[in-house]
Amino acid sequence: MTLTHPAAALDSLAQIPLSHEKVLIETGKRSGLMITVAIHSTRLGQALGGARLWQYASWTDAVADALRLSAAMTLKNAAAGLNRGGGKCVIYLPLGTVLTDAGKRLAMLDLGDAIESMKGAYMTAEDVGTSAELMAIVAERTSHVCGLPAASGGVGEPADATAAGVYASIESTLEALFGSREVRGRHLVISGLGQVGGRVATAAAAAGATLTVTDINPDKRALADELGARWVPVADAHRVHADLFVPCGLGGVLTSAVIAELNVLGICGAANNQLENPAGAAQLNARGILWAPDFVVNAGGVVYLDLASEPNADRAKITERVAGIGSVLTQIFTDASASEITTLAAAELLAVTRLNAAS
Ligand SMILES: NC(=O)c1ccc[n+]([C@@H]2O[C@H](COP(=O)([O-])OP(=O)(O)OC[C@H]3O[C@@H](n4cnc5c(N)ncnc54)[C@H](O)[C@@H]3O)[C@@H](O)[C@H]2O)c1
Repeated sequence: MTLTHPAAALDSLAQIPLSHEKVLIETGKRSGLMITVAIHSTRLGQALGGARLWQYASWTDAVADALRLSAAMTLKNAAAGLNRGGGKCVIYLPLGTVLTDAGKRLAMLDLGDAIESMKGAYMTAEDVGTSAELMAIVAERTSHVCGLPAASGGVGEPADATAAGVYASIESTLEALFGSREVRGRHLVISGLGQVGGRVATAAAAAGATLTVTDINPDKRALADELGARWVPVADAHRVHADLFVPCGLGGVLTSAVIAELNVLGICGAANNQLENPAGAAQLNARGILWAPDFVVNAGGVVYLDLASEPNADRAKITERVAGIGSVLTQIFTDASASEITTLAAAELLAVTRLNAAS
């Protein structure tokens, strides 16, 4: 065991309002990895949010991510009309750590034990760095996990539903800006061609959009070529003159400097926690850029996981609920405009109204 003075490292955590019901930080007994399970709220029901396995510069960054992401899940689940609270967990990998399959298995067993110790207050699922197959390992230690592979009797990955919700949101954002939901002929800049971004790019290309794309992973260039999309370096993507910027990589992409340089009329993407700072919502407003709040746009996955996990789930109803994310977003745009508030404030108001009605 190493003992160090924690004061400096804790500074990054001090910036986050701690409004969480419960936070567990423990070292997995098999993997030796630090696991954070953050339950922000169970006011609407059992907390639901994914398990992230990711590299961070410090353990405090990993905990900070869990705190921010779990609070966003409370808003996301409430705004989506689910009877679910907000939670998230993060397994911290120090920079440069690459886990073998055996190492991942140990991490997932530890994660399962950590979740089981929360006594049903939190249910996990896949997120960045994890998968349906890894959730099947978590299920060896707890029943509070969803999104398992179909072969294990689960409902599978939620990325299709997330992408469908993002696509419906893109249509609603275009409608708010141009009076038409038509994607054909619109120019979208998609940053991040992973599970969700790749699907959104494929659907937008099929609909006749002009695409500029980027990813930190150069292998994704093959998809860009396949779709006839222009590839630009990551650092240049936000400066491209286009109709919409579609962030589908990781969070924090909308820094003050990036917002100042954007050359689009709207932003609508899957990435969680896009605003580096909530003040970015007012900065976007002042620049006349319409921002579709991320926690509304990317709720398709959690809607799918929640509804598909119910007995006798009705697939057509789930598809309808996911497509309905576009209507929720339209309402938020209307409310923001009528009350002269940011779209972030309007979306938070929608979620908080529902949370307050439940208490
Ligand atoms: N998968 C889902 O169902 C789901 C649901 C809700 C929210 N989200 C959010 O959507 C985002 C994408 O999720 P995903 O499942 O597609 O993840 P993914 O890991 O499959 O894909 C992310 C892609 O973004 C790229 N990337 C990472 N950092 C980048 C950067 N700075 N600039 C450009 N590209 C970058 C990665 O190389 C990768 O190709 C994440 O923020 C995730 O939290 C995903």
